[in-house]
Amino acid sequence: MTGVAGAVAGAAYIVAALLFILSLAGLSKHETSRRGVAYGIIGMTIALVATVILVAAGAWGQPSGALGLTLLVVAVLTGAAIGLWRARIVQMTGMPELIALLHSFVGLAAVLVGWNGALYDTGLEGALADIHHAEVFIGVFIGGVTFTGSIVAFLKLSARISSKPLMLPGKNALNIGALIAFLALTVWYVITPELWLLVAVTALALALGWHLVASIGGGDMPVVVSMLNSYSGWAAAAAGFLLNNDLLIVTGALVGSSGAYLSYIMCKAMNRSFLSVIAGGFGIEAPRAGDEEQGEHREIDAEAAADLLAGASSVVITPGYGMAVAQAQHGVADLVQKLRERGADVRFGIHPVAGRLPGHMNVLLAEAKVPYDIVLEMDEINDDLSSVDVVLVIGANDTVNPAAAEDPTSPIAGMPVLRVWEADNVIVFKRSMASGYAGVQNPLFYRENAQMLFGDAKEKVDEILFQLSRV
Ligand code: TAP
Repeated sequence: MTGVAGAVAGAAYIVAALLFILSLAGLSKHETSRRGVAYGIIGMTIALVATVILVAAGAWGQPSGALGLTLLVVAVLTGAAIGLWRARIVQMTGMPELIALLHSFVGLAAVLVGWNGALYDTGLEGALADIHHAEVFIGVFIGGVTFTGSIVAFLKLSARISSKPLMLPGKNALNIGALIAFLALTVWYVITPELWLLVAVTALALALGWHLVASIGGGDMPVVVSMLNSYSGWAAAAAGFLLNNDLLIVTGALVGSSGAYLSYIMCKAMNRSFLSVIAGGFGIEAPRAGDEEQGEHREIDAEAAADLLAGASSVVITPGYGMAVAQAQHGVADLVQKLRERGADVRFGIHPVAGRLPGHMNVLLAEAKVPYDIVLEMDEINDDLSSVDVVLVIGANDTVNPAAAEDPTSPIAGMPVLRVWEADNVIVFKRSMASGYAGVQNPLFYRENAQMLFGDAKEKVDEILFQLSRV
């Protein structure tokens, strides 16, 4: 980047990078999240304008000027139109698969940028040429893994293919072998940059990405999505080096490292080994089937539930995926308001992987204008649950499963859960005795202090609201 346009764009990129960092900081807390989004939007707008200036000035070679601008505008408008359309129609429950699909685009872009970098004569010589060749190779490799890995994640999350882990014989050896082959090919390509090596690494990366994610079971998919988020960040950073674009490098590194850290936090929340998951289910065995029923359950109706709540002085609500499916959050917010007006202490207990994407429950509750200060995380509320009168489990299942804490043979053994069974009474809102996402039966439903309130969560919450107004 040279000349006035380069200097202006360089300065704009630094401002945009700072805004992205402020955006991440803002998004880490409820209270500042709107500001965080605003910083992100402003940063991205500045980055786009600076990029337009660079293209117009011909900083990235041909085509520049009017033709370059026209191509850029057409690409941006097409992308923006598709993005707006998808963002408007996507359901919250479909977000993980949409995100997985978007990651695949980043991966594909990195592969194309890498290939472009290889075919475009840079005129570099000596050590600089070697570095360029290494950048090309690494960029294509990370991009290829991200591309097919994200496509498999999309297919699994949208139930287009089975979410069962693929168990090829010697799968760990295959993954490790692919990594060793990549390292050897990289050295070879730096020494003699022949095109067939690039073809080979592209094929290797595409196959590895496919195999890595295919080997991971449905229960670990949330971690996979955030891991692919991280890979897409590194793929973007690699593209940034090739395009000599500082902002892409900074942004890619931010996405890469924050995605890796989020994956780590989620692994801890699900008691999974981080290394096992990022290595494509390394060492994870297929879970045994655990969906046989375990005794008698009790049922309750909305009227009796309203009576129980009317007499409760402390209530905790633990929402899950079913609240999102039923879109019950507004009714739940009204119920909270009503119970608080009656003098009850009402709080929420949010499991880190409740729902289908990080922060899923917090987004729904914020949308329904539930006050932030009563929305607590699992660790903040778990020790209080034994002194709570009534826990309402609204469309949650795996995240409140006592088997995780008590049955070492359970497929979800060791996953930290909300210990709702310690409360005096538990009311479970769901439509049937079906298992949750992990496919394991939940002994909570058969506990003496638990009662099932069958039906759509929204309808049942509305019925309780109606009954409460009569009590
Ligand atoms: P789940 O264990 O998936 O259970 C949700 C329950 O909601 C189901 O048992 C279902 O029972 C019930 N339900 C569905 N629709 C309903 C409706 N309209 N009304 C009432 N109930 C309804 O949910 P969870 O406790 O939130 O746990 C999340 C699970 O998803 C974990 O296993 C987690 O690992 C996984 N996961 C999480 C993420 C992230 S990042 N949060 C991403 C992907 C996967 P019925 O069918 O009987 O109604």
